Amino acid sequence: MTGRGGEGLLCPLCKGVLSREGGSLVCGKAHRFDLSAEGYVNLAVGKSGAGDNRAMCRARRDFLVAGYYRPFAEGIGRALAAAMATPGVVCDAGCGEGYYLRAAREFLPTCSFIGFDLAKDSIRFAAKAERGREDAAFFAVAGIFDMPLPDASCAAVTSVFAPVPAEEARRVLGETGVLLVARPGARHLSGMKEILYKAPYDNPEKPLSFPGFRLLSEERIFYRADIGKDDMKNLFYMTPYCYKTAKEDAERFFACGGFFTELDFLISLFRKEPL
Ligand SMILES: C[S@@+](CC[C@H](N)C(=O)[O-])C[C@H]1O[C@@H](n2cnc3c(N)ncnc32)[C@H](O)[C@@H]1O
Ligand SMILES: [Zn+2]
Repeated sequence: MTGRGGEGLLCPLCKGVLSREGGSLVCGKAHRFDLSAEGYVNLAVGKSGAGDNRAMCRARRDFLVAGYYRPFAEGIGRALAAAMATPGVVCDAGCGEGYYLRAAREFLPTCSFIGFDLAKDSIRFAAKAERGREDAAFFAVAGIFDMPLPDASCAAVTSVFAPVPAEEARRVLGETGVLLVARPGARHLSGMKEILYKAPYDNPEKPLSFPGFRLLSEERIFYRADIGKDDMKNLFYMTPYCYKTAKEDAERFFACGGFFTELDFLISLFRKEPL
């Protein structure tokens, strides 16, 4: 199955199929990509330094393991399990630190998992979390708009809080493949925005559509949580608010000892269909 240990991925230089040779992946033209100590491979030739920065990756990893988004992550796993016609490869495009992929795996024990992201630090964290597992997911530093995957090699592609590479997802999905897109709903993090901004507005919820995909379902996952003081800093640094917020507004936010907020997520499922 494509992806297990990196076998069957495509060489970013010549698009030949990669095979495992000891601690490397090698194509027929002898292009060689060494696996890191954590077990991931860097296939992002010429794209170094892209993706989220180290501080953002670390903040997201630390916030997610605290568990606030666990019901959302489980919702993703459940939705995928319900929509997938047959088990196969699940590819998380823009997987970050692999949190959602690991949660989805619990609902799909017979699938294999692969995650791509251009942020090397995220992929390092993701691969490290898999070490020692027999059914380990495979992670690669790679762009999601030209994934190192053969045509029709996946049963599902997921995009969680990440850009949606719909055309590329269509290429790598098999005939009845599923595309899952997860994004913030209107009220997501309303409690945080009320502290940060004088006139906070709801997140836009534009209907999604992608050529060559039919919408199967859209599910809202909504609940409330008390975000503790230690976790709010990580939450701030993992969101785009860290770029958009004035210094004095951020200071006011950090000075509060935690906050109560709505958490609002939308999970949209699409089935690949003929164009
Ligand atoms: C907001 S983060 C979400 C990460 C993860 N899905 C999560 O929700 O925890 C968006 C991710 O998309 C990645 N990304 C953005 N553009 C990308 C591209 N063209 N190729 C690969 N990864 C990309 C970023 O590096 C980042 O890790
Ligand atoms: Zn090659």
